[in-house]
Order: sequence, then C-alpha cells, then structure tokens
Amino acid sequence: MTDQKLKLLARYPRERTRLLSLLHELQRANPNNYLTGEDLRLVADYLNLPLSEVHDAATFYSLFSLKPRGKHVIRLCKSPPCHLAGAWSLLAALERELGITVGETTPDGLFTLETTSCLGVCGVAPAMMIDEEVYGRLTPDRLREILASYRGEA
Ligand code: FES
Repeated sequence: MTDQKLKLLARYPRERTRLLSLLHELQRANPNNYLTGEDLRLVADYLNLPLSEVHDAATFYSLFSLKPRGKHVIRLCKSPPCHLAGAWSLLAALERELGITVGETTPDGLFTLETTSCLGVCGVAPAMMIDEEVYGRLTPDRLREILASYRGEA
C-alpha cells in the first residue's frame, strides 16, 4: 500500500501548495475514508514539511478525518441559512433514518454522519454533501430517496 501511495504522491509537484490535494488523495485511497499516521508522515516527507504542519492541516479541515469513517460521508450544513431553512429537522430525520447520531458510522460501514459549515450553496438551502456530491432543497422525502440510491449501490 505504501508503494501505491507513493505513486499517488508522485503525480504532484513537491510544492507546499499541494498539501491539501495530497491529503485528499491519500484519504480517498484508504478504504475507511480517513488519514493514517503513516499517510501524514508520507506527505510530510514528500513535501519536506514538518509533520506537525501536515497534522495541523489534517485536523483543521473538516473534510479530513484521522479516524476510520464509513464508505460515504454525509455532511449536513448547519450554518444559519440552512438552519433557517430547516436543517435541524433534517438532521433529526437523517439520524432516525440511519440509526446513528452526528459523528457516528452506521454498523454496515456505509455512512458516517457529520455536520459542516456553509457549503457555498445557500441558494438551495437546506443542503448537504455526500462525499463530493452536493444536494440542495432537501426535504425528509428527498433525503430518503438520496440515501436509497447510495444503499442501492452497496
Ligand atoms: S448555509 Fe448551508 S450552504 Fe450556505
């Protein structure tokens, strides 16, 4: 696996500005959607940066996790425009539908539920992301349909 990861890193120039892209690549390469300590070390070595700087980046951005997560990560926006558009009742619906609370992963390993700040699509609030896909104008019925489409692929 380390060789595969080194090949992934080698696709990028050794520039500090690539730090987030490299973390993203390695996180995607892991089956449980997270960054291991070894990943952080590989990136630090590749970019010749202190490990602490790579660790700080990996813990600052909510897109990254240092803990194993589900195959799909759901991020429901909790910022004011989505909040006013009903995000909190959607969160309750998501928790009911998945049988987990924020920060948890479903027992089948398919979904991890998280909240996030503004996704930049306030015009279609309330909104969420699943992995890199954005969904807006959410209702409890639409949530169920969306989750079913991911369950169908499992
Ligand atoms: S506040 Fe939710 S997308 Fe902007």
